[in-house]
Amino acid sequence: MYGKEQNFRGYKVVVGVSGGIAAYKTVDLVSLLTKRGAEVHVVMTKAAREFIGPVTFEAISGNKVHLDVFDSPPGWHFPHLELARIADAVVIAPATAHFIGRAACGMADDLLGTMLLACQNLVFVCPAMNVAMYKHPAVQANINKLREFGYTVVEPDYGRLACGDTGPGRLAENDRIIKELENQLLFNQDLNDYTILVTAGATREPIDPVRFISNRSSGKMGFAIARAARKRGARVILVSGVLHPKPPEGVNLIEVESAQEMYDEVLKHYECVDVVIKAAAVGDYMPENVASQKIKKNGNALTLELKRNPDILLELGKRKQHQLLVGFAAETQDVEKNAKEKIFKKNLDLMVANDVTVPGAGFGTDTNVVKLIFAGGEANQLPMMTKEDLSNIILDNIRMLKKCK
Ligand code: CTP
Repeated sequence: MYGKEQNFRGYKVVVGVSGGIAAYKTVDLVSLLTKRGAEVHVVMTKAAREFIGPVTFEAISGNKVHLDVFDSPPGWHFPHLELARIADAVVIAPATAHFIGRAACGMADDLLGTMLLACQNLVFVCPAMNVAMYKHPAVQANINKLREFGYTVVEPDYGRLACGDTGPGRLAENDRIIKELENQLLFNQDLNDYTILVTAGATREPIDPVRFISNRSSGKMGFAIARAARKRGARVILVSGVLHPKPPEGVNLIEVESAQEMYDEVLKHYECVDVVIKAAAVGDYMPENVASQKIKKNGNALTLELKRNPDILLELGKRKQHQLLVGFAAETQDVEKNAKEKIFKKNLDLMVANDVTVPGAGFGTDTNVVKLIFAGGEANQLPMMTKEDLSNIILDNIRMLKKCK
């Protein structure tokens, strides 16, 4: 688990650098954010490159620096939209008078300006310029406009500037910029008293060294919950079957293959967790005999004898003490009835039930359509939404249930 020194783990910060002499200080800002665990992507304007080279930022952040709207990294069709989408926060440091003016007018004539228009998350603007320029009514009006957009303006420091003048205009100290980020980005850490165990993905039951029985679960739902819980400050243990391409950061990731391995890992951690969210699609059966060599075909049909796997959630329900248990039920018919039976049988507090035949609710999608069913029998049908939004609603309900316990 990570302490304060790694409190940005799991967060993605886009640092925009515009062309001012203070750009060299931004190298240290990127370094500090990276050390604190953030994934940092730097976007530089053309003028910024007059002051400092992209290679420096690349070396410090460990990521390619983004320079142009038309220069897409592999797999990114629209870099401005991708950057806006992944950024938990955008920090523009230094923000020159020219950049502030462009941003205030909504100009989209380079990558940084375009990305900023597409960004729906937190934006921090850190002005740095000559004192007279900073005090100019045009600049002040533009800064106020950025505030109206909801951006946070990290006021410049007072002091001697590179041009020799003294007054406000020095880029804010990095500690102050980081403090602002901490205050806003980590503000809503309403789950920081919780340890949450999430299971995700599909289990695999080996038949022989090259074959297995599995299911269609992609792991996206469990990963989204783990990511959301981590962002809200929880310590997260993620026991995952088949891996989704990008596991969330900042979580204690335990990879397993079979249902039995998942059972062992979940039970090992059960006592010290507050909540278990079982989003994994666990195989109910495994082959009675696992062949040690690859099974060769002959002219005949092959019959596989299967035996029952342990039901992990059933076992957790039996051993339940202080923990809150959340199950998932992927059904194709009688959703509510089946889910209620499982709540009762497995001693659950909440069941997230869905009909996987409904469009937008199937396996591998980025959305889900679910009904939340509570142990008391109450049911709440939710509309189609992203797995990220659904994760936060599930976590809100968990918090509410925990408070009522
Ligand atoms: N589950 C589990 N261990 C299993 C099977 C299921 O922990 N061996 C958990 C799942 O992770 C899920 C919940 O139980 O949170 C319900 O899973 P589901 O497959 O819908 O139900 P089953 O109890 O397996 O019943 P059935 O497959 O007959 O619908």
